[in-house]
Amino acid sequence: MADECHLCLLGLIFLSSLLTGISGEDDAHVFISSGENVRLPCNNALHDCKSTTWTYKRFRHSAAVDLINSGIKKKDTESHERLSLGSGCSLNIKNITKEDSGFYNCRQYVNGRYYQKADAYVFLHVLHGNVMNM
Ligand SMILES: *[C@@H]1O[C@H](CO)[C@@H](O)[C@H](O)[C@H]1NC(C)=O
Repeated sequence: MADECHLCLLGLIFLSSLLTGISGEDDAHVFISSGENVRLPCNNALHDCKSTTWTYKRFRHSAAVDLINSGIKKKDTESHERLSLGSGCSLNIKNITKEDSGFYNCRQYVNGRYYQKADAYVFLHVLHGNVMNM
């Protein structure tokens, strides 16, 4: 696909997310093509990732699924073989598929209590070449 078209696609996605209101004020948006690898950042404020929990949900109001719990990867998710914790407790996903799009949330806990400042939502948009496939 031509570069200009990638740009219109991004513009279209941005516009439609504004119009449908799926984008919360603090959400980070990451755009990626299927087959690529992605690193989703965590607002890591701690010196390790032992309390890091990454959750995923397909839509804003879907139930969240744990991908990483207390720094340990869950083995029962469809994507677990492609996931790893990266530097700064980021979530690395290899070989992105269309089904990976959705909301990813990084949380950390201090002394067993949820640490608000580290709460980071990332919305992953997977580009699939054709806007009708998204
Ligand atoms: C990526 O995933 C596709 C199917 O979704 C698979 O056919 C392909 O072999 C994978 N590539 C790598 C490098 O794992």
